[in-house]
Amino acid sequence: MANSSYAGLPGRLRASAPGWTTRSDVVVIGSGIAGLTAALRVHAALNSRTDDGSANQGATVLVVTKTVLNAGSTQWAQGGIAAALGPGDTPEQHEHDTLVAGAGACDPDAVRALVTEGPDAVRELIALGTNFDHRDGVLSLTREGGHHRDRIAHAGGDATGAEIQRALIAAVEAAPEIEVIQHALAIDLLRSADGGVAGVTLHVIGEGQRDGVGAVHCRAVVLASGGLGQVFSQSTNPSVSTGDGMALAMRAGATLRDLEFVQFHPTVMYLGPDSRGQQPLISEAVRGEGAFLVDFEGNRFMQGQHELADLAPRDVVAKAITRRMHETDKPHMWLDARHLGAEFWEKRFPTILGVCRSHGVDPVNELIPVAPAHHFASGGVATDLHGRSSVAGLYATGEVACSGVHGANRLASNSLLEGLVFSRRIADVLPAELRAWAEPAPDEREAHLASADVRPAMQALMTDNVSVLRSEEGLSAALDALPELARTTGSEGVEAWEATNLLTIATALTTAALGRRETRGSHWREDFPDRDDDRWAGHFDARLEDGVVDVSFHPAPASDLTEGAIR
Ligand code: SIN
Repeated sequence: MANSSYAGLPGRLRASAPGWTTRSDVVVIGSGIAGLTAALRVHAALNSRTDDGSANQGATVLVVTKTVLNAGSTQWAQGGIAAALGPGDTPEQHEHDTLVAGAGACDPDAVRALVTEGPDAVRELIALGTNFDHRDGVLSLTREGGHHRDRIAHAGGDATGAEIQRALIAAVEAAPEIEVIQHALAIDLLRSADGGVAGVTLHVIGEGQRDGVGAVHCRAVVLASGGLGQVFSQSTNPSVSTGDGMALAMRAGATLRDLEFVQFHPTVMYLGPDSRGQQPLISEAVRGEGAFLVDFEGNRFMQGQHELADLAPRDVVAKAITRRMHETDKPHMWLDARHLGAEFWEKRFPTILGVCRSHGVDPVNELIPVAPAHHFASGGVATDLHGRSSVAGLYATGEVACSGVHGANRLASNSLLEGLVFSRRIADVLPAELRAWAEPAPDEREAHLASADVRPAMQALMTDNVSVLRSEEGLSAALDALPELARTTGSEGVEAWEATNLLTIATALTTAALGRRETRGSHWREDFPDRDDDRWAGHFDARLEDGVVDVSFHPAPASDLTEGAIR
């Protein structure tokens, strides 16, 4: 129903013809919790003995990652991983909190799978060697925004992602039959005559035979390439989060869903108006341990706004901070965690303490300046309950995917869990449905590359018009300006491939945000300040057709609108 007025997004990225070719049954793109779990589980599943004579014995799995194995968002995750593991907690309570945070846009079946399979998935991560924090021999669990129970397992205090990443890399390194190619950007999918997966083109910065653009022929691709943070000028995401997997999937004909639901983390350390790129996150777990927000006059403005006050769901807190910033004409608010004390800070939040101090703020004695900034894409490549996209042989898991568990606003610490649970679910089905080897068909799609130089202008457009608070005027202004940036011409290379991917996703995201004329979860429209279940309970699907983003609205089935989901 909503079309971008744009006719310049490429059907494929301009790139040299492949100078080398290799083969692997399955290619996993990305090396965070979702990618490495998928690689380990898919490899094990393919090679396990089956009653019908182990048809897939010897099947190979190749992991490709844009820079190095631990460069993605998993490494940076602070708070932890949510699962109903504590006394008195149940999957039903976790389900309830997830649905409420998701503001009526979750897929209830996906949420059910997440919360019921989550505890075992975390136990398996522990069995794999992940050292979660314990107190008196018992797994230590904390609370974050939107959770009514302590259910966040953490490691190294506030270094949960780094510890999970370490354990998964060790497991992959102990499985030499899983091949890894680092410094490999996935450019485009190769498709067979039936439109399904036949391979993927890569650009590798390597030495020897696999250097430059090459092709990997394969029978399935698992996308686990993370999010799109670099669409905005400031994000908690690392520099590698350039929406590559989402854009690749769109060019291959896949449907993307819920792109307008971009999560802005309420407490990102404010480093000044000119700060760009990855910004320091102050985990919600700091508020979970008792920190609270204050304005410049020391007022605790979250009190009375929500029953959970400073621990309200993330969208509620981000909106309250933004409102207070506007009301008081200030560029940020403050987080007060002084009362936690030096000893507690050093033990529980050593990473955040170090980062704050490196920026000249000592949270033991001083308030931390905080403001909302981009944090997470709740939408992505639309998948079913087993990670299947709408393209045969293409699966997606983790932040690149829209499995339906996050709805309009992801519940804190459900993202690592999503990657874990849905990668396991892909491994459950992939061996039985592995496609036959197929030759890539000639690719007639129009190739183009935008100039890498347009990236700061695109980020400024998106930050000014498509951030926490949106309006028809701002969204239209962004959609009017994006095509001119995309029509520029760039030279082949990582910077231009990334810029073109970012422009593709920025256009789709903005088109969906313009279409959703209501406020729901993290999508906040100042011109449509209320949630409208009669008109907008459902999803925006985005597809790329002949260079144009086509976004269509699909009402949710009535069965999805359970009481919990629409509360
Ligand atoms: C945080 O630690 O506040 C972020 C955790 C998350 O995004 O789930």
